[in-house]
Amino acid sequence: MTAKKAKIKTIGIMSGGGDCPGINAVIRAVTKTAIHKHRLKVVGILDGFLGLIENRLQELGWGDVSNILTLGGTILGTSNKADPAAYPIRKKGKTKLTDVRARCLHHARRAGLDIIVVIGGDGTMACAQGLAQKGLNFIGVPKTIDNDLPGTDVTFGFDTAVSTATEAIDKVHTTASSHHRVMIVEVMGRYAGWLALHAGVASGSDVILIPEIPYSLDAICNCVRQRSRYGKRFSIITVAEGARPKGGKMTVMKKIKDSPDPIRLGGIANKLQYGIETKTHLDCRAVVLGHVQRGGIPTAFDRALASGLGYYAVESLMAGQKNKLVVHNQGEIGSIDLARIAGKSRRVPADHPLIEAARALGTSFGDKIIFPA
Ligand code: F6P
Repeated sequence: MTAKKAKIKTIGIMSGGGDCPGINAVIRAVTKTAIHKHRLKVVGILDGFLGLIENRLQELGWGDVSNILTLGGTILGTSNKADPAAYPIRKKGKTKLTDVRARCLHHARRAGLDIIVVIGGDGTMACAQGLAQKGLNFIGVPKTIDNDLPGTDVTFGFDTAVSTATEAIDKVHTTASSHHRVMIVEVMGRYAGWLALHAGVASGSDVILIPEIPYSLDAICNCVRQRSRYGKRFSIITVAEGARPKGGKMTVMKKIKDSPDPIRLGGIANKLQYGIETKTHLDCRAVVLGHVQRGGIPTAFDRALASGLGYYAVESLMAGQKNKLVVHNQGEIGSIDLARIAGKSRRVPADHPLIEAARALGTSFGDKIIFPA
């Protein structure tokens, strides 16, 4: 970090995109560091970029952020629909995507915001980058249960989501075993398989399906059938919502027109249930964990990570940095240019050590027959 001090008096803070456990821990760390260490004024922007567009801002004091370290969600609210560069405005019965970035700039300047700490994932960082091009300054803090932001080896919220999903799969395990069933548990993660991979390995799932390794139904059926023949009369399949068959597409649940990323994935577990049941005649059930994975109390790891990232975000902006993303790499916190990562995502490499370890333990990734007939 450069030692040059910036003349910062007032900072904004906002959370954008899908929520996750640990956002409040960041808000607390940023606000307390700013007030306590640097005597700054902190202004909360409500509901992500929507609050900046609609000028809904409110000053945050010490008391507002006290006792929120363990609280899930975000006290500021969030939105994953408001991109200031393409904001839907309805006129004469028609919706037109309009560039309202000048309006955001006006509201930020009127509130005296020298810089904004933006807590978000790839979509939120892309929106921030769009506003940075118009003259607003940001420091990003990487948030998402998907763990798919490039430039950082972990995002806060991921560890909690992995724990939540693992606990749920553990519970499914006992009922699968009692009823001699194939249980297919669908987890979130969007286009990346980090959540499925980690929760799948942690829960000892027999099959793990991730977007990065397209599956074949035959390979999955071979695995559960052979387990059954060897006396293991149940199987657990953890499937990422973005998993897809070889040569096939991801399963889209719906499209949300006014969202910067309109695709919402979902439904793969039900498809697999039908496919496996039809081919193997084994009793199958699908369980979709959904937004449960985004809630709850952050784990100790996420609380510590979020606190460190929040503190570092304030130190960075006080050192004169702008339009950077605070990142965590190999135990160290640093920062990289926002422009380098905005709108990009990080996938699981096919040779990831955890994939290799899981394969060695006999886990199927649905891509090859692992039990020869
Ligand atoms: O990016 C976080 C995430 O929870 C993804 O894992 C999931 O695909 C998506 O958000 C769900 O979005 P929404 O809250 O709009 O349903």
